[in-house]
Amino acid sequence: MILYFSGTGNSRYVAQKIAEISGDEVISINQRLKAQDYATISSDKPLVFVGPIYAGRLPRVMDEYIKKVNFMGTKRAYFIGTCAQTPWMTVQYVEKLCKEKSFALLGFNSVVMPQGYIAGGGIQPKDINDKILKEAEPKIVKIAETIRDKQTLPKEQPDKAIMSKVLNPIMYSMMISAKGFTATDKCTGCGKCEIRCPLNNVKLVNGKPSWGKECTHCMACIAGCPREAIEYGKKTQGKPRYYLGEK
Ligand SMILES: Cc1cc2nc3c(=O)[nH]c(=O)nc-3n(C[C@H](O)[C@H](O)[C@H](O)COP(=O)(O)O)c2cc1C
Ligand code: SF4
Ligand code: SF4
Repeated sequence: MILYFSGTGNSRYVAQKIAEISGDEVISINQRLKAQDYATISSDKPLVFVGPIYAGRLPRVMDEYIKKVNFMGTKRAYFIGTCAQTPWMTVQYVEKLCKEKSFALLGFNSVVMPQGYIAGGGIQPKDINDKILKEAEPKIVKIAETIRDKQTLPKEQPDKAIMSKVLNPIMYSMMISAKGFTATDKCTGCGKCEIRCPLNNVKLVNGKPSWGKECTHCMACIAGCPREAIEYGKKTQGKPRYYLGEK
């Protein structure tokens, strides 16, 4: 059973690729969160959690979802983190989570994918993103084959602790907020941002999106807008968007 959380599509892509090769079923944590659905999940096959790395850990909303849900059947679990550079020390937090859930960890691996954090700064040009995606493919396939064969993932060397331990809580308290989002005149009121927000934090008011306080900076609204009609303060003006999948 593969469960993914994804804002800009990278982790969804990796989850779907693993499913293609392993034949496992896929569940979207985004949809579960949106529906506030914390129903028990049963699986005899190992659990495979795929999500982005946010400042050296799994997204809080994903961590909280896993903590809240009762998993029946298998207690074996893989964790895959997609990131733009490094997962830092995510593995330590994954190990902690597994201990709390009594999961036997079959390995944590990271996959470097295009940067999706437009509100945090740098989105790369399309040709660089295409190259990163191409280079990621063999690792994704290898991970998927390892999961299909129920083997343990190879150990990766964790990166420095400062991001995961010190900067992660700072990022959540200082940066993660929907305050900067606005819609421009390009908005057609299609409602895709409202549909995409996993936390129901975007609502159309008089045909234009309005943001509440429950934001995890997943970037699904701004990156997935087909009109590129969402900005985050001045930081995003004139910058390319990155979204993997159909907008
Ligand atoms: C809030 C936030 C924090 C991030 N922190 C990190 C990080 O610590 N290390 C890193 O390499 N990438 C970081 N990124 C980039 C994402 O991990 C990367 O783009 C990921 O593949 C996005 O996955 P998704 O498309 O499934 O949402 C961050 C992105 C966001 C939105
Ligand atoms: S997705 Fe874009 S165009 Fe559609 S309602 Fe939201 S801001 Fe407007
Ligand atoms: S408001 Fe946008 S960035 Fe925040 S959680 Fe919703 S979709 Fe993600």
